Amino acid sequence: MYDVLSGLGNMGSDYGAGDPRPKRTVEFSQVENMFIIRYENINPTGRLFGGQLLAWIDEVAGACAMRHTGLNVTTASIDNLTFKRGAYLGDIVVLVARMTYVGKTSCEVRVDSYIEKKDGFRYTINRAFLTFVAIDDNGKPIRIPYGLDVQTVSEKARWDGALLRRNNRTHRKGVGF
Ligand SMILES: CC(C)(COP(=O)(O)OP(=O)(O)OC[C@H]1O[C@@H](n2cnc3c(N)ncnc32)[C@H](O)[C@@H]1OP(=O)(O)O)[C@@H](O)C(=O)NCCC(=O)NCCS
Repeated sequence: MYDVLSGLGNMGSDYGAGDPRPKRTVEFSQVENMFIIRYENINPTGRLFGGQLLAWIDEVAGACAMRHTGLNVTTASIDNLTFKRGAYLGDIVVLVARMTYVGKTSCEVRVDSYIEKKDGFRYTINRAFLTFVAIDDNGKPIRIPYGLDVQTVSEKARWDGALLRRNNRTHRKGVGF
């Protein structure tokens, strides 16, 4: 069945290989940004304030979603904010945002946050998955004009993981979580 409003055929929920939209690669929208932890970013125990990291994650992920979609987006949900390791004053925090999945009006972005040491090694401190919805001037969801060109085995694994997370979110929504 053809979906007149969205312009997409009925391709099930994964918008995979049969997606007729022009596609953009993961690389196209990848965003990397770095921050140095300053006094205003730490909590009374000297560690990076978790809310600050969340703000940075939301910012880089939002930039990634805007690059891919070419539209205004809004954050619909953020999954998994496990803090694996602390970060401290003067540390260099690197955030890398990559598109994992593109649906009809929503898309998922994975953000990996690292501490980069002076020897160049990076230590993961956080991994988060954010869902953004493309919106019109009235804040209503609109179709994303570009599908995702999944090119590598890793990108395919991330796409498959995104489908599982999408199902989990739908289930959680159904039970009022
Ligand atoms: C996000 C928002 C635009 C969705 O509007 P909606 O009318 O509920 O949207 P729909 O039910 O039609 O779903 C639209 C898409 O969003 C997805 N979606 C909706 N709620 C979601 C959620 N909580 N988590 C993940 N995805 C969600 C749907 O799966 C659907 O994706 P698809 O088109 O790719 O299949 C609306 O809930 C909103 O404006 N929320 C506030 C966002 C905001 O202010 N964010 C800033 C944080 S303070």
